Amino acid sequence: MLNLKKGNIMPGGSSLRKIILEGGVPLKGEIVVSGSKNAVLPLIAASLLTDGVSLIDDTPWLADVDAMCQVLQHLGARSDFSEGSLEIESDGLNCVEPPAGLVGKMRASFLIMGPLLARMGKVRMSLPGGCAIGARPIDLHLKGFEAMGATVSIDNGYIDASATKLTGSRIYLDFPSVGATENLMMAASLAQGVTIIENAAEEPEIVDLANFLGAMGAKIKGAGTKVIRIEGVSSLHPTHHTVIPDRVEAGSFMLAAASSGGDLLISNVICEHLKSVTAKLHEAGIQVEEGYEGVHVVGNPDIGPLDIKTLPYPGFPTDMQAQFMALLATAHGGSVVTETVFENRFMHVSELNKMGADIKIDGHSAIINGVERLRGASVRATDLRAGAAMIIAGLKADGITKIDDIYHIERGYENICGKLSAVGARIKLCDD
Ligand code: UD1
Repeated sequence: MLNLKKGNIMPGGSSLRKIILEGGVPLKGEIVVSGSKNAVLPLIAASLLTDGVSLIDDTPWLADVDAMCQVLQHLGARSDFSEGSLEIESDGLNCVEPPAGLVGKMRASFLIMGPLLARMGKVRMSLPGGCAIGARPIDLHLKGFEAMGATVSIDNGYIDASATKLTGSRIYLDFPSVGATENLMMAASLAQGVTIIENAAEEPEIVDLANFLGAMGAKIKGAGTKVIRIEGVSSLHPTHHTVIPDRVEAGSFMLAAASSGGDLLISNVICEHLKSVTAKLHEAGIQVEEGYEGVHVVGNPDIGPLDIKTLPYPGFPTDMQAQFMALLATAHGGSVVTETVFENRFMHVSELNKMGADIKIDGHSAIINGVERLRGASVRATDLRAGAAMIIAGLKADGITKIDDIYHIERGYENICGKLSAVGARIKLCDD
């Protein structure tokens, strides 16, 4: 389990807590982005592939990281978090069934399936949870394991998978699923022979995982392209790695700067990972400059309308869709946001409308009629990125916004109230 550290948001905090903020203050100064949540979760899972102590620097202090470490601890591994570094030692691995309660909290817990199958030869787990943003099946993960020779069965909400030895295979993913690509890369690293994943996800988090596995001794080529080739090895060794910066956190702060009419330097970013976000901000008339120190965003009250369609990387990220809708709620004119990655990711629309936005849903698209002003209201963080959207909307709204269900925000934003108040936002975390 993680050691406690100071900060105004703690993993596993009370679900009764709220974020309260008062709009109207342009954000000014610098925000340093944390390590990537979506990158570090698969790295934690990958640490199960070997004995010895792995060290992951720039690990963000988040509820999801805590939950993942608790899963590992239940399996017999040890984890220790100190000053942003996470140490994991999996020598004592003695269990192949993570507790359903923890797995139900977070979909990414499913990423331990590949490593457990490869190292222990079997795994039993309940169906995973996570944000309520659609059905989110796991068929692609399971088909891939089967193609590698595993026997998989689902009964009464549990999945059992076993394989005496995984064998390399050619696997075509019907959709470039991030999680399936990661799970299969990890399993294939210890399989016998060569695995080729076609139509693989190309996200930067896949490349970070490939770099981590490569440093552990895996033989992986093509990560970051549609075809990944993994030549299985008989064993891996622990490593020391620094996780990439969180591109979604960075993008959310870019939107916070734009929305509040502020002037922010967002540092510890890889600008290349933010190209689609930057392009859309430019199109909306927001000044974004990329530099050695980070991205500099200067807001502008005249926000132009946009058409946005979410797509797998390098397309526009579904994880930035809600935040852009908060910005476009006060654009001059009508915008259309189309969601193609998840089937039900518009729960924030009714919350934004409570703040005076004029947004209608038409199938997979949201039609946004820009209004002059938003007003503060009591709203809910209906999922992780929707929670960020409520903060972005609240920063420009008249009056006070109260956000409930902030445990979603705690899953993916490290110390968000502290970071925003340091650049001038009137925001605080309160017990009910
Ligand atoms: C990851 C990210 C999440 C992001 C998403 C898409 C992590 C921890 N989470 O989630 O923040 O929003 O990528 O960029 O990295 N699908 C199937 N069958 C499968 C797997 C996926 O149909 O076996 C579908 C899903 O239901 C969804 C789409 O594929 O509609 C994308 O899912 P996927 O890329 O797997 O997302 P996650 O890995 O869960």
